[in-house]
Amino acid sequence: MKIIEVKDYEQMSQMAAEYMIRKVKECKATNLGLATGGTPVGMYKKLIEDHRLQGTSYQEVTTFNLDEYIGLSGTNKNSYRYYMNENLFDHIDVQKDKTFIPHGDVQDFEVECQRYEKLIEANGGIDLQILGIGSNGHIGFNEPGTSFDSKTHVVDLKSSTIEANARFFNRIEEVPTQAVTMGISSIMRSKEILLLISGEGKKEAFHQLLNGDVTENFPASVLKNHPCVTIIADEAAVSGVKLRS
Ligand code: PGA
Repeated sequence: MKIIEVKDYEQMSQMAAEYMIRKVKECKATNLGLATGGTPVGMYKKLIEDHRLQGTSYQEVTTFNLDEYIGLSGTNKNSYRYYMNENLFDHIDVQKDKTFIPHGDVQDFEVECQRYEKLIEANGGIDLQILGIGSNGHIGFNEPGTSFDSKTHVVDLKSSTIEANARFFNRIEEVPTQAVTMGISSIMRSKEILLLISGEGKKEAFHQLLNGDVTENFPASVLKNHPCVTIIADEAAVSGVKLRS
């Protein structure tokens, strides 16, 4: 894993956006794996700014998001489809019908999970996957204990995740308790991974990632087995964290 330390959230967002833009310029038909949550918002802002000022085009890009809440349709303000439209897709020239997010409002989730997994495969896989990390080490919504062999599946969200995400909802009771997420093995099949870590709240997770063992109890630790992972972490997340010597 290559680790880049930056000063703050702003610099992390800038560097991550530049990384993605480089990728899209190298190959116009890149398949991007995208994430939601608080961490990538700044990066998306920078992508929009660059699209406006420099004209970087996403017309041939295909995107796959990591996850979606169960029970929310794409028009619900708390759905990740809504988040992606608001924070990125509505402001760049990506073709909406080439932006994929698991559906959270279907009847048969077994079918949905298989459909999503096949869709990624049929499009040739993900070239660059953006990831955040949960304070419990989750990636996507793969909570501690998820098998490293998992493909797209339904998860019960841990109470720590529900609490962490309650800030986006009016009341904690409104936070869905289940989600559809790409599995660990789906994520690991990405050719390249960019993990963004920001803020003091992620210090413990960063420490565990660097110094802990590779274990299903800490899902992000699997990234140590991936050949091409870059981490951009800010000072607040890095402070006091030492690499095992
Ligand atoms: P956050 O979430 O970006 O909102 O901190 C990251 C995650 O839970 O994966």
